[in-house]
Amino acid sequence: PEQALSDIGLYGLAVMGQNFALNMASHGFSVSVCNRSPGKVDATVERAKEEGDLPLVGYKEPKEFIESLAKPRKVVLLVQAGAAVDATIATLSEFMEEGDILVDCGNEWFPNSQRRAKELEPKKIMFVGMGISGGEEGARNGPSLMPGGPKEAFDALAPIITKCAAQVNDGPCTTYLGSIGSGNYVKMVHNGVEYGDMQLIAEVYDVLKHVAGMDNDELAATFGDWNTGELQSFLIEITAVIFSRKDDLTDSGHVVDKILDKTGMKGTGRWTIQEAAERSTAAPTMAAALDARYISGRKAERVEAAKTLTGPTDIPKVSKEQLVEDIKAALYCSKICSYAQGMNLIKSASNHFEWGVDLGECARIWKGGCIIRAAFLDDIKRAYVRDPELDNLLVDPDFTAQILERQASWRRVVTLCVASGIAAPAMTASLSYFDSYRRARLPANLVQAQRDFFGAHTYERVDKEGTFHCLWDDTH
Ligand code: NAP
Ligand code: ATR
Repeated sequence: PEQALSDIGLYGLAVMGQNFALNMASHGFSVSVCNRSPGKVDATVERAKEEGDLPLVGYKEPKEFIESLAKPRKVVLLVQAGAAVDATIATLSEFMEEGDILVDCGNEWFPNSQRRAKELEPKKIMFVGMGISGGEEGARNGPSLMPGGPKEAFDALAPIITKCAAQVNDGPCTTYLGSIGSGNYVKMVHNGVEYGDMQLIAEVYDVLKHVAGMDNDELAATFGDWNTGELQSFLIEITAVIFSRKDDLTDSGHVVDKILDKTGMKGTGRWTIQEAAERSTAAPTMAAALDARYISGRKAERVEAAKTLTGPTDIPKVSKEQLVEDIKAALYCSKICSYAQGMNLIKSASNHFEWGVDLGECARIWKGGCIIRAAFLDDIKRAYVRDPELDNLLVDPDFTAQILERQASWRRVVTLCVASGIAAPAMTASLSYFDSYRRARLPANLVQAQRDFFGAHTYERVDKEGTFHCLWDDTH
């Protein structure tokens, strides 16, 4: 009998693609799948059978794959970002026609999506760049989906993606973000924020371990406890689990102590910082997190340097109980600053590209499925619902109150880190961001004077309208 046409197609059956295809099929959508190497097609079809005869059909030829789809055809790509996406689009678009929709879910540099959308325009194929977060588990059971592209394409996809995304108390973790590029951008910033969160947690660990003298069991208990309050989040939750995990390769100790202190990275965090510079938007917490990864990578140099570059030896004595309270507050304040930077970066790009991204919705769709999911995203959403044009999360009345209540603790922790010789770059960057933003007058007047001195760049005055230049000496 002739096969009925499928609701949607998925090309690229590595970890993410395979799981997302099964997710869609388990929601009752009929899914056609295809992959460059045919072995993964068989494996996916096999899994669909094992998981309860899910409505999923495998194809090994791109032409048959595309022809198996109901029109307008909807094709999701989950191949390696970059050149593989171009190659796959070239192959598949040959068999597609006007009104069809291609959705790339890769972690893609957003200008690539903008270029591809343009390239597909003559064929009138609609192109969507949809960030997906949540790793393998999220892809299978409900990811956060961040789509940007033609609204018409989103509307056609919505019945499927709103069902397959993670579900939270105020809806599915997906929404229309804006035109092409916006989805990739929001996903990129999500990853930048993720870098910041991870680094902040690592700094907190450093202080709790080296100043408060906590062992792994105490650390597990502390993070477990924090996960029940304002810091509740996936990353805090897994951190508690990490500290409780015994080493399985040797008979002694915890895995965390056996792991080399050298972080890897795949690049989306770096993109965030490049973009922050491009948009002239300060993102010091995320930048500090990125720098911390670079420095961690120079392990051999650090081991050498440690032999001569000594630091303070008498670490200030502090009450452990007070320190834990202070650090909890410091982490929370630092996190607010980091998210404020991320949100403002999205806002700058959204204004520049005229995407119209709703920042409250952004916070909402990060509440489930993704790595940065956290209770406090609800507060961020509320802040933008209250004022969609909010200049900065720090001036939202709720966040202002929360920070003012905790700032003494935050300062005590940063001071303690400095006195103890413990680097806390992200926490320190957050506090400096706060202290710069909250001050009506900064020493930038001197920088302007210097610029005017050596380059006749002129300056504005506090007391008169216009631009001025001073004859600073005989030659300038
Ligand atoms: P991946 O390792 O990034 O990519 C492997 C897939 O790409 C395979 O299906 C492979 O086909 C295909 N591929 C590579 N080069 C190709 C080419 N020239 N032509 C056609 N297909 C090609 O897989 P992944 O980890 O599942 O990730 C897929 C995308 O999702 C990436 O953009 C990734 O950044 C993004 N993402 C990943 C995660 C995660 O947790 N892994 C989370 C969110 C987003 P073959 O089988 O033929 O080699
Ligand atoms: P998600 O948002 O679902 O977590 P992601 O954006 O692909 O998925 O990646 C999230 C984190 O997992 C990132 O930290 C990423 O790498 P970098 O920190 O180096 O940028 C990491 N990650 C994703 N895929 C990976 C892979 N195949 N190998 C190693 N790390 C990976």
